[in-house]
Formats: sequence, C-alpha cells, structure tokens
Amino acid sequence: MDKLIIEGGTRLEGTVKVSGSKNAALPILAATLMSEGDCTISNVPPLRDMFTICRILNELGVETHYEGGTVSSRLVSDKFCVAPYDLVRTMRASICVLGPLLARRGRAKVSLPGGCVIGSRPIDLHIKGLAALGAKIKIEHGYVVAEADRLRGTEIYLGGPHGSTVTGTANILCAATLAEGTTIIEGAACEPEVADLAAFLNAMGAQIRGVGTHRLEVEGVTSLGGCEYAVIPDRIEAGTFATAAILTGGRVQIANCRAEDLSAVIDVFTQIGGKITPTDNGICVEGSGRIATADVTTHAYPGFPTDLQAQVMVLLSLAGGISVVTEKIYPDRFMHVAELNRMGAKIRKEGSIAIVVGAERLTGAPVMASDLRASAALVLAGLVAEGTTQISRVYHIDRGYEKIEEKFNALGARMTRVDEPT
Ligand code: EPZ
Repeated sequence: MDKLIIEGGTRLEGTVKVSGSKNAALPILAATLMSEGDCTISNVPPLRDMFTICRILNELGVETHYEGGTVSSRLVSDKFCVAPYDLVRTMRASICVLGPLLARRGRAKVSLPGGCVIGSRPIDLHIKGLAALGAKIKIEHGYVVAEADRLRGTEIYLGGPHGSTVTGTANILCAATLAEGTTIIEGAACEPEVADLAAFLNAMGAQIRGVGTHRLEVEGVTSLGGCEYAVIPDRIEAGTFATAAILTGGRVQIANCRAEDLSAVIDVFTQIGGKITPTDNGICVEGSGRIATADVTTHAYPGFPTDLQAQVMVLLSLAGGISVVTEKIYPDRFMHVAELNRMGAKIRKEGSIAIVVGAERLTGAPVMASDLRASAALVLAGLVAEGTTQISRVYHIDRGYEKIEEKFNALGARMTRVDEPT
C-alpha cells in the first residue's frame, strides 16, 4: 500500500486544473444501463471508483471502454440483473445501478451498501421512492431485490431526517424516466451532480423539468438512446485546492471549475480570510497568512458541503480563536479529528459538533487515512505542518483525487508517494 510523505511549510502558487466530478460521473455511468444506444462520456476522472463502476457495468451487460478520460459504453446484453457483493462492497455508490436496472430490465438485485467510516448509509429513501413507483422490493441475504413489470409515475416526497438524498434522488430520477406517465419528485437533492445526471438523461431523450431544483417533474418515455456528454468539474476537488491556497498563504488559480457551484464555500472561505475572485474559467484563491474563526454547519446543497467539512476544519485549527463545526449530514463524520489532534490541532468532538480552538501551528506526524475526505484533510494539514507528515493507506485518497501529489507539487508542495510494505 502506498503512503505519502509531505514536507510542510511551502506557500502554494500557480495553476491547477480540476478534474471531472467523481460524484457526477458515477450516477451518469450507472444510467448507461438504460440506454439502447452507444454513449460517449468525457471528462471522467481516472479514479478507482470509475473503474469499479465500469466493472459492474461490464458484469451487467454494458460493455465499457475507458481511454483518455472518456468512457464509451455499449449495451451488449440486458439479461443480467445482479450487482455482486464483492464489487458493491468496495464502493457504496454502486447502489446507483438499482434504479436504472429496475427501470430498463424490470428486475434488480443489488448488494446492500452497508456502512462506512463516515457513518451508517441507509437506503430507506431509495426503497421508498422505488416502491412508490410500483416496484415490489424485498431485502434478503444482504441484497435489495426489486421487481416491476412497468413502473408507474406518481408524486413522491424524497426528503429524509438529514434533508435530501443525492444518490436516492439519482435512483428515483432514473427510474421515473422510463415509468408510465408523470412523476413529481418533491424534496429532490439539487446538488450540481444531480443536475448533471438530469442533463445527461435528457440528452438520452428523457423528459425532465425542474433540473437543479428541489422539485423534479418527469414525463416517462418508452426508451432512451445514446448520447455524447461531458461531466461537470469536481467542486469538492476545487474546494480542497482552495483550502490549500488559503492554508499556505499562497495564490492559486483553480481552472476548470464553476464558481456558481461553490457559493457557500466561497462565503465561508472569505469569512476565514481567503480572497476569492472568479476568473474566466474558474476562481483565483489567495491566502493572507491570517486565518479568522468561523462557525460552519454542513447542509445539503446549496449549503456548505459535508464533503469539505474535514478540509475547512484544518483551516479553523489554525484560526485566531474558537470555531464551531456542526455536521448535519453525517453526524459521525469526524474520523479526521483524532489524527489532526496528533498533529497539534485542538479539536473537541461533542456529538455532531466539533469545537476547534485555534493552535499556533501544526507539526508533522505519521497519520493514517480513513475515508476519502478525512484523508484529504490530512494532506492539507501536512502541507502547512512544521516538519514531515507520513500518511498511510493512501488508496482512500486515490478514490477521489486524480494524481493528488502531482497536482500539489506543481504548485510548489513537497510531496512524495512511496510504496509501503504491507
Ligand atoms: C452522496 O452520498 C455523495 N456520494 C457523498 O460523497 C456526499 O457526502 C453525500 O451525497 C452528501 O452530499 C456520491 O454522490 C457518490 P445522501 P449519498 O443519500 O447519496 C441520509 C464523497 O466523499 N439518508 O445524500 O450516499 C444519509 O444517512 C462522498 O465523495 C437517509 O436517511 O448521501 C445522510 O445523513 C461521501 N436515507 C443524508 O441522508 C436514505 O435512503 C444524505 O445522504 C439515504 C440517505
């Protein structure tokens, strides 16, 4: 297993190009299960999760070919309906094949995703939505088994105790595109990644209105064709690099990102002391060297994203005072706290709230990556810590960040990847 060695203390400067969005590409690739034609999907980042979903598609009769950031897909057989445990357990988001499989083939057997380090990952809202569309669903032997001759349009409220569900909305939206009649999804997630999926489905011939809002209206069609499509940029990767620019007092041009996807992030980072200006193809982010406190609460879009909570906590751990971070989406998503404290941060967790007392400095240490975004936070901490930081289990980071050390080193970081004997 690889580890990253980071020498802290350099000021980041230069330009970084953001890759395509992992969380948009996943449901879009899953939706190719519904296409009668060939699809060409570009700006797909070469991440492990992309290859995992392509392997699942291949098992399900959709032949995929990945080259130069583009996935070409072709329907070879529509008789397979089982997404196997040994693949699904490596990536929770595989649940995104449930809606497309059911809608196009009338049957789907998908391994339950199970939990992960950021907390339990229920799919009750996915099941509620598909049952509302007329599917018969049972849970047996660790699988969701869903059947439906023809799904029927209906009105569904999809909100849950923590707000809307991103992949739940993706599953119900996909299923509704081939259901008979009209479906209204109230309380839909309106993350840019969900809007990107809706645009992809419309490019295949779906009839979806209200894209980008909490209310989606879908007119069912009898079939979907092929299309060419480019995935949106990854706003979480953009936010991660913006954090690094502010943290190191640097100046970084973040190219190929959409400022409009980052309004809540820009608001908080400006309060913390970052200077963020939109450019013609992204944003320019400057750190002043001084970090101010902020109280941050995560919410569903357009609120501050939970996927940047660990990263902003690194900033706040060096602020001149006390900050409060409240996690409303995944109350247990604080795996990064213990490791950051080992680097000199002063963070105390109280349930779904973290009290962050600003420290003078962070110091390098051997730390362990856990989940994707907590690991990104450790990389950020290593950039600004005094001395050397060694991050093990780097495969967690590679799930969501393309060539992370190459991108950071091009900005002046000192980061090397070494093979860690298992
Ligand atoms: C998506 O996960 C993202 N993953 C996550 O990013 C992201 O953190 C999350 O949305 C929230 O923005 C992908 O898009 C592949 P949810 P998802 O369903 O869809 C509760 C990353 O690091 N809920 O929107 O699984 C749930 O427990 C990953 O890139 C139910 O109660 O998240 C959570 O509290 C991590 N019942 C909240 O809703 C359900 O049926 C939001 O979950 C579904 C969800």
